[in-house]
Amino acid sequence: MSVSSRSLSPAELERFETHGYLSPLPALTPGELARCQAGLQGLIKRIGPALDPPTRHKPHLCFQWASDLVRHPAILDVVADLLGDDLLVWRSVLFAKPPRDPRYVAWHQDWAYWGLNCDDVVTAWVALTESNRENGCVRVVAGSHRQAELPHTIQAGSKNQLVRGQIASVRVPEESVTDLVLAAGQLSVHHVRLLHGSRGNASERPRIGLAIRYLATRVKQRGPRQSASLVRGADRYGHFDHEPAPRFDYDPVALAWHAKSLRRYGAELLWEALMRPTPRNLISFGRMMTNRGMLRAALHAVRSWAGGPRISTGGSQASPPACSSDEAAPEDRSQPN
Ligand code: NI
Repeated sequence: MSVSSRSLSPAELERFETHGYLSPLPALTPGELARCQAGLQGLIKRIGPALDPPTRHKPHLCFQWASDLVRHPAILDVVADLLGDDLLVWRSVLFAKPPRDPRYVAWHQDWAYWGLNCDDVVTAWVALTESNRENGCVRVVAGSHRQAELPHTIQAGSKNQLVRGQIASVRVPEESVTDLVLAAGQLSVHHVRLLHGSRGNASERPRIGLAIRYLATRVKQRGPRQSASLVRGADRYGHFDHEPAPRFDYDPVALAWHAKSLRRYGAELLWEALMRPTPRNLISFGRMMTNRGMLRAALHAVRSWAGGPRISTGGSQASPPACSSDEAAPEDRSQPN
């Protein structure tokens, strides 16, 4: 693993702290972008332009181009400047909007429903096509990460691309919105508490990006134990099982971890609904289960639990950053599983 080279300037670090995002930042060379796009084209031929689950989730466990992308030194250098040098990729998600796709991402704060114990979490959104106002780029409300957590409700209708179908209960005046316009190969980074969303694709061309969720290794997640990929530094905490990088596309070893990871995700959603059976969670769970892939994942989770669940005891902290870089680390652990 290489060591971070401090790619962000003090002014950029201050801007991230104040506004909760940085955009645009350079990431991929034209050759690297072409390789990712070739990989995407293969995937689109296989599963269609909307890139629906399961491959939409954690493609970095299925394809070498995506595995290399989440480990790209230019991206890791930026994230390391924000979170430190010990980094996990918790999840990655392909957000694809085919031409004239009305699906949007409702305004939301990731923090409100990710079940993490502190906010040392950053999303790097890498544009694999141009991402602009017309085709539905990510939109943010600058500075909203510094405000209190907003209540979220479940939105009726099926055009919201968010898995849980949630939307923040807030009116967002257009003048407070910043569009994160990116050329293909550029990236933006945003804070886990930042209010963000996106519109549908009104253009004749697809808009595709990979959202990569990076965690500092000290972050814990409530609910069933999950897996993540260590992409820089060392993990002195062992809060997540470590996934292997695929040695080639559809590497059966990494694919087994991908399948397991999806089942664990299903278990997490089920756990969320059962632990806090609020109307919102139950509606959200019902909505998710209309997706066959998620239904299979949840059913598998139930079967796994019947055979001996592994539930972590992360507590129920919902309030701000409980962890910091000087939190005592447990002794080094060998990789579980
Ligand atoms: Ni989000």
